[in-house]
Amino acid sequence: MSDNNKFPASFTQEQFVPFLTEDEIQTITASLAHTISKKFQGEELVLIGQLKGSCIFMADLMRKLQNVKVSIDFIKVGSVGRTKESSGTIFLSKDISSNIENKNVLIVEEIIDTGRALKFIQDRLKLSNPRSIGIVALLDKPYKRAVPIKPDYIGKQIEDQFTVGYGLDLDQFGRNFSSIFYLKYPN
Ligand code: IMP
Ligand code: MG
Repeated sequence: MSDNNKFPASFTQEQFVPFLTEDEIQTITASLAHTISKKFQGEELVLIGQLKGSCIFMADLMRKLQNVKVSIDFIKVGSVGRTKESSGTIFLSKDISSNIENKNVLIVEEIIDTGRALKFIQDRLKLSNPRSIGIVALLDKPYKRAVPIKPDYIGKQIEDQFTVGYGLDLDQFGRNFSSIFYLKYPN
């Protein structure tokens, strides 16, 4: 973990437990890219990254795709009114900026939790009549799912643990780490 990143108040280094090394992440990403490349050989594919978390995964994944005509776009959602009792309301914060009609689209997500953000994004993108729409996720927490979302390509399934690094942040902290840690809460 780099020294120039200050821990958020009330967290200590010991609470960040190494989970996936840089090499392990690259192996997972290469395997996903291989499968996706085979599926879309010689075809056009629009990767749509969910901001901000997917930026690093997307950059690595797209460079590993072979013989695929790749273009990219980004989308961002937010949520308001989230409390312990309510999951809040999702809103579109930044829409895509290209025409995806009749295109093969792949939503790129660094981690799926309840799936609510992805469901909203999937519904939004369907309105633009893509030829196909798929989901690739680096990490997936299937036990946390609250809505029916099934990624087509999954890097690694994980338990309900909070992960930080490689695009994943804890209140903006840790996004630029090359490896992934999980957060150990004090008992
Ligand atoms: P969902 O709508 O509950 O699936 O929310 C997924 C989004 O929540 C991800 O795209 C992340 O931005 C964030 N998220 C969920 N789990 C984690 C985690 O363990 N670490 C960091 N961000 C997370
Ligand atoms: Mg995200």
